[in-house]
Amino acid sequence: MQMIELRSDTMTQPTAAMRKAMAEAEVGDDVFGEDPTINRLEEMAADRLGKETALFVSSGTMANLVSQLAHCGRGDEIILGSHAHTFFYEQGGSAAVGSLHPRTVPNQPDGKMALEDIEAAIRGDNVHFPRSRLILLENTHNICNGCPLEIDYMQAVGDIARRHQLKIHVDGARFFNAAVALGVAPKDLAAEADSVSFCLSKGLAAPVGSMVCGTQAFINEARRARKLLGGGMRQAGILAAAGIVSLNEMVERLADDHANAKKLAAGLAEIQGLFIEPDRIRTNIVFFELKSEKMTAAQFTQQINAEGLRMLPVAAQRVRAVTHYHITSKDIDQALAVVSKVMK
Ligand SMILES: Cc1ncc(COP(=O)(O)O)c(C=O)c1O
Repeated sequence: MQMIELRSDTMTQPTAAMRKAMAEAEVGDDVFGEDPTINRLEEMAADRLGKETALFVSSGTMANLVSQLAHCGRGDEIILGSHAHTFFYEQGGSAAVGSLHPRTVPNQPDGKMALEDIEAAIRGDNVHFPRSRLILLENTHNICNGCPLEIDYMQAVGDIARRHQLKIHVDGARFFNAAVALGVAPKDLAAEADSVSFCLSKGLAAPVGSMVCGTQAFINEARRARKLLGGGMRQAGILAAAGIVSLNEMVERLADDHANAKKLAAGLAEIQGLFIEPDRIRTNIVFFELKSEKMTAAQFTQQINAEGLRMLPVAAQRVRAVTHYHITSKDIDQALAVVSKVMK
C-alpha cells in the first residue's frame, strides 16, 4: 500500500536533480568561508530576498535562534505572536540560550498580530522594564492555517518598528509559499524586514538546511552565533547543492501544493463530523477539527493510517494536513475517500 503522507512538508524526499547536484558538489571548509557551493547558495538566497548577504544553517530552529541572538542582547525583549512557532515549538531557545525575554501578543486567526497590540507591547524607557528590541513575525503562519502576511501589513509593522527603533525578524520557514500565494516578488515581501529566515527542507524539498538573510553586519553576528551553537559545518556544500536546486526549480511549483490544499479543504468541509473553514486555506497547510469528542484526533489518525493516509494529530480534536511535492491531485481524491470512509 502506497502511503499518502500529509503530516508535514518536511517529509519531502530530495529530487533526482538534488541527488545529482549533491554527488557532484564542489566543497570546502565553510567555517573558513571556503565552500564554493555554500557561498553560491548564500549569494542566491540574499539576491532572492533583496538582502546584502545570507547564512546557511542546519534548520529553521537554528535560523530563528541565531537571528534573535544577533539582533538582541541579554535581557532584551522580543515581541512575537502567541502562536508563533518560535514561541511554541523551539524549546524557548531564545530564553534558554540567549537570556532573551519573549513578550507574546495574541495572533489573530490570519496569523497577524493586531498593530495596536504590537504598539501597546512596546516598552517605554523605564528602569523596571526590559528593553524592547525585536518584532518577530511568521510568514506563512504555521498554526494559523498557513496564512501569508501581505506586503501592506509588513509595511504597517515596518512603520511601527522604525518609530520605536526596533528590528524585525521574519520566521519565513515557508516564505516562498507566502510569496507564491500572494503573487509578489520575495524581495518585495522581505523589504521591511531586517532579517528573514527560510527553510529549504520543507516545501522546497531539500533534505537539510535553512537560510538567514540580512545585512552584512547582522550576518556577521549570526555567523558567530551559529558557531557558538555548534552549527559551524565543514564540507556542507554537499547539502547546499540541494538548496540551490530548491531555489532554481522548486519555488514556482508551490502553487500546485496550494491548489491541492484548497481542494483538500473544500472536500473536508463536505464531510459530516468535521469542522473546517476552507476559505482560510491559502497555502499548503490545512487544519480541521473533529466535532464529536467520541473520536479523538489520535484515534482518527490511527484509523486513516490503517487505510494508507497520514495526517498529524495536533490537539485532542485537531488535525493537520500539509501538501507538498509528492502529493498529487489524485492523492487528494484518495485522501478524501479515506476520510469519508473513516467518518462513516
Ligand atoms: C513556522 C516554522 N518556523 C520554524 C520551523 C522550524 O524548522 P526546523 O524544523 O527546520 O527546525 C518550523 C518547522 O516546522 C516552522 O513551521
